[in-house]
Amino acid sequence: MTPAVQKPCPGAGSPSFHLRDGELWCEDIAIRGLAARFGTPLYVYSATTLASRLAEVRAAFGPEAHVCYAVKANSNLSILRRLHAGGAGFDLVSGGELRRLQAAGLPTSGAVFAGVAKEHWEIEAAVAAGIMFFNVESAHELPLLAAAGQAARKRVRVLLRLNPDVDAATHAYISTAKKDNKFGVALDRAGAVVEAIAREPWLELCGYHVHLGSQLRTVGPYAAALDRVLEFADGAAVRRDGVTHYDLGGGFGIAYGAGEPLEVAAVAKCLLPRLRERRWVPVVEPGRYLAGDAGVLVTAVLGEKNQGGTDFLLVDAAMNDLLRPALYRAEHPIVPVRATAAERRVVDVVGPVCETGDFLAQKRELPRCERGDLLAVLGAGAYGASMASNYNTRRRPAEVLVEGAAVRLVRTRETFEQMFANEDPDED
Ligand code: LLP
Repeated sequence: MTPAVQKPCPGAGSPSFHLRDGELWCEDIAIRGLAARFGTPLYVYSATTLASRLAEVRAAFGPEAHVCYAVKANSNLSILRRLHAGGAGFDLVSGGELRRLQAAGLPTSGAVFAGVAKEHWEIEAAVAAGIMFFNVESAHELPLLAAAGQAARKRVRVLLRLNPDVDAATHAYISTAKKDNKFGVALDRAGAVVEAIAREPWLELCGYHVHLGSQLRTVGPYAAALDRVLEFADGAAVRRDGVTHYDLGGGFGIAYGAGEPLEVAAVAKCLLPRLRERRWVPVVEPGRYLAGDAGVLVTAVLGEKNQGGTDFLLVDAAMNDLLRPALYRAEHPIVPVRATAAERRVVDVVGPVCETGDFLAQKRELPRCERGDLLAVLGAGAYGASMASNYNTRRRPAEVLVEGAAVRLVRTRETFEQMFANEDPDED
């Protein structure tokens, strides 16, 4: 047998997704076979990509750094287990995400918990679980946190999330560190919050946290934020005493088939010497950088239609499965699962949901497709499945994790029974 001709898949940010004899594979598995076995829409993840991205970030920031994966990017229990095995801690933003760690049987001792508006039960649960750092975002959290610490007889280790007023140059919805954003504590108010923490015997200020936004492509904002944090810390001894950690957040951008990803090593190179000078240990919270290029969404063509001068390609995945194009006008590369020589034309790739905003791509050049042909939406491993909903009473997709030639169904397609289970079951 002649060996298959292997080529990179244009637009895929990871070599795990590549072409063999013109067909898309994930590691040593043909995507077409997965679609036949598990149906579509289907999320397919590469365990090797997850592991290698984590290793890359860990190597960039060095052995003392804590790499806390942002669970919100893809919170599938199997993915959390894989990343833990690779040495990751976790960045949590809800009591639900804490429960996920516990459900996966993972330790909570390497977790940080941020969140702009934490509920009382979430604060208590996080303190009881014994997480690494509690990232305080508002002064009102302090008495609740101190009371939870006292009740558990545990001193709570706090990072104060600062709002450095830095423009991350990203989509407005995912930019989080400008002064008019809801996150963190503004620098002109943070001094008083530090003093309040210092007065509280059940709280211990261990450092500062910033998160500038998501999908950053340049080092500049990370450097600017650290400048402002250092300037703040230098303003009074109480702001420096006992400080051991700096959590620079996540936000490491990926290419999505256009432009360059963030150079993570360059961020580390720029920040590490300045952190070492102070003996501040770095914490990083990447989500998208670890999971984004590790997943694709496979969808089948249902039909096509021309209307008002637009060619619509109708597919079985929709905004409920992958919200990013509709919500942020995000552009994910889309490739046919099996290459074809068919003529190329410009289409809008749209799903079955009853909204004009339901598109996966607009004005995209693709080869002509037939009903049943498969397409893969690339870069869909982060903020894909985790943002999926049941809108239009659609079942959330199945998810599979591939490692080499091994395939694991890590989430079954939701059933209608599961969807209706909580809806007034006692009504006659
Ligand atoms: N840390 C904190 C405190 C965060 O709020 C986030 C993301 C991260 C870390 C991870 O950011 P990443 O490394 O993944 O960029 N749904 C949007 C992204 C929202 C990000 C929210 N916070 C999207 O699909 O683009």
